[in-house]
Amino acid sequence: MVDSSHELQQRAQALNPDLADRLVAWQRQEGRHHLPWQGVRDPYRVWLSEIMLQQTQVSTVLVYFDRFLARFPDVASLAAAPLDDVLTLWAGLGYYTRARNLHKCAQAVMVEHGGQFPATAELLETLPGIGRSTAAAIASFCFDERATILDGNVKRVLTRVMAWGQDLALSANEKALWQAAVLVLPRRGRDMPSYTQGLMDLGATVCTQRKPSCLMCPWVDLCQARVLGAPETYPVKTRKLKRSKRESWCLWVEQGDAVWLVQRPGTGVWASLWTLPLFDSEADLLAAAAALGLPEPEAQPVVNHVLTHLDWRLHPMRSVSLTGLNEALMPHGSGADTDIAGRWVPLAKLASIGLPAPFRRFLES
Ligand code: ADE
Repeated sequence: MVDSSHELQQRAQALNPDLADRLVAWQRQEGRHHLPWQGVRDPYRVWLSEIMLQQTQVSTVLVYFDRFLARFPDVASLAAAPLDDVLTLWAGLGYYTRARNLHKCAQAVMVEHGGQFPATAELLETLPGIGRSTAAAIASFCFDERATILDGNVKRVLTRVMAWGQDLALSANEKALWQAAVLVLPRRGRDMPSYTQGLMDLGATVCTQRKPSCLMCPWVDLCQARVLGAPETYPVKTRKLKRSKRESWCLWVEQGDAVWLVQRPGTGVWASLWTLPLFDSEADLLAAAAALGLPEPEAQPVVNHVLTHLDWRLHPMRSVSLTGLNEALMPHGSGADTDIAGRWVPLAKLASIGLPAPFRRFLES
């Protein structure tokens, strides 16, 4: 495995021009040549196909592509159409942001570029819905520009051939891969259409996610992942955790030398541990306290409890009761947790009961 970005760039450099030359020859011999958006250098058709192919497989796109072109044969007709007509024709392809951007992009081409798609990847990328990889696909297919695509399939192909095992969830590693992809481009612009199509064809038919057909690959003897014996382990990309936030109000009732705790349910965060009764809002907590005849609870410093997926803000509200309390009325939890047990726990016994860290911290303070 190569570990540093520097090593990756060196490896890419060493693979040039072999990698590109072989891919171009292989694409011309073995690749796909009869897709309806091939063999034309019309940016409108290429753009439309690339947007459709972003999240949809070729067999489905074939049907939609023809229908779309029959209704909107050029960028001017698409730009002039009501958005509703575009969305109707798109129905079934999913990811409708693509259709909205398609319409916006057609209008931008008309208004800002005199009805002609701009002829460089750099300018194409300024248009709605066209990212770096799509811009490169259009520019390389239509204008022979030496710009690299890097969609999911191509990331797989290139991380394998270069054995780049760094986590692509980190933008620095992804950036390093873009740089390496640029370094292995063909030297001649006129090879670009076959090269770009070759990357797509290799990813779709040979260097598949599972069980790649390495013996069919034009890079079989160059592939570093294959040398290391595990091409399927590339690319490495950890899932980014989506963090959420939660707020809870904690009723802290003390009487004499004891505090009222409730046991959490057997599943979820803090399963079966003991906590103060939790409420989803301050109002809920105050209503419960009032119903119990407790002295008005006083807000204590907020505790921010950080879990892997969750930032949980806990608001302790403390009430010290001097009179005897009817245990049957005491809160047994809140919301879905209403059935769980509650009891008085002597402060001296807190150390011997399963208490989550933030509660231990503020109850023992
Ligand atoms: N996937 C994305 N672009 C493609 C293209 N031009 N041909 C085949 N599959 C693709």
